[in-house]
Amino acid sequence: MNVLITGGAGFIGSHVVRHFVNKYPHYHIFNLDKLTYAGNLENLTDVEQASNYTFIKGDIVDTSFIADLFAKYKFDAVIHLAAESHVDRSISAPMEFVMANVVGTVNLLASARDTWSKDGQYDAKNIFYHISTDEVYGTLGDTGKFLETTPYSPNSPYSASKASSDHFVRAWHHTYGMPIKISNCSNNYGSHQFPEKLIPLFIHNVKNNKPLPVYGKGENVRDWLYVVDHAVAIDTIFHGGTLGDTYNIGGNNEWKNIELIKLLCSIMDKKLDREPGTSEKLITHVQDRAGHDWRYAIDSSKLMDELDWRPSVTFEQGLEKTIDWYLTNETWLNNVTSGAYQNYYKQKYSER
Ligand code: NAD
Ligand code: TYD
Repeated sequence: MNVLITGGAGFIGSHVVRHFVNKYPHYHIFNLDKLTYAGNLENLTDVEQASNYTFIKGDIVDTSFIADLFAKYKFDAVIHLAAESHVDRSISAPMEFVMANVVGTVNLLASARDTWSKDGQYDAKNIFYHISTDEVYGTLGDTGKFLETTPYSPNSPYSASKASSDHFVRAWHHTYGMPIKISNCSNNYGSHQFPEKLIPLFIHNVKNNKPLPVYGKGENVRDWLYVVDHAVAIDTIFHGGTLGDTYNIGGNNEWKNIELIKLLCSIMDKKLDREPGTSEKLITHVQDRAGHDWRYAIDSSKLMDELDWRPSVTFEQGLEKTIDWYLTNETWLNNVTSGAYQNYYKQKYSER
């Protein structure tokens, strides 16, 4: 089976590529990625020589390029992760999110349909699996959880673009019979995440004695999942989920930002041999994010009950592993923040 994974050089995508390349030697994994600021092939050095792996540099927004690619490789299935993914960037540059997340997704759907079916019949191997976020459901008050049936109510340009792409994927199923799956996952954390998101940014800043910019009072709540557990959930849904269905993914792990930051600071004090309380002093309350969603919490009992998926680590274990990874991979952190990897790979894969 030829499986196209888009966005495989990014944070979650690189974990998904690694998982599939290693676990399914009889599949050929094609990783299509534009290598934006968030995509780094350095994330995949351990699998780049594998005989069942091919990297393709390219932009999902480029309609004719995507059509040619499907015609050439005849992918059997798609796991689609490529996207602009940071809420703060979506507030300052929303059109980039419309292009990558909405137009890019529709390009992939159109080419998959052209390749897979002219007459509404699809092969049993064909799956278009869209990786999405719980942010499409909007924001919660202090109680309740998102279910698969919760109405979409996206608030940020990022979540609006992901909600839109989810709707297009579902529309291709309803209108053209496309075999699709969608999963909506809570906030991920782990190795290889670009240090603009909360956890890697704060590890980086604590290490360098820089202020920790907490938006508002820091009382907003997020539900955190270890990225490797997300990759396993994606595998579980890809192979076992029902066509046409949506699955929520999350590990019942809600944290107020400020409590999470204090835990992170206390682990960092130990790792860096600092007096307890040293890192916390870097906390600086800054202006709140525009339209900041109050609380996310996800009910993943459908995935747990139907497909028997469970997270493998507690948050304390996962966070410590994550901190250890960033502390021992200082070169990665320096290179992604300076653009050094981008320059290297730009030369290696000349621009189309
Ligand atoms: P990321 O920003 O780390 O990686 C995105 C990848 O997509 C990068 O490698 C980038 O180069 C690539 N990309 C962007 N635009 C592209 C384009 N036009 N053509 C080809 N490639 C392009 O993102 P992530 O955090 O790994 O998220 C991956 C997916 O998972 C996204 O669809 C995101 O919406 C979804 N998701 C993320 C989270 C999270 O907590 N990070 C949670 C739930 C769902
Ligand atoms: P983030 O990692 O950007 O993910 P998302 O916005 O998709 O949930 O942010 C997680 C939470 O941390 C969110 O409530 C915003 C907050 N936050 C800060 O307080 N300071 C920061 O510098 C960042 C990046 C996020």
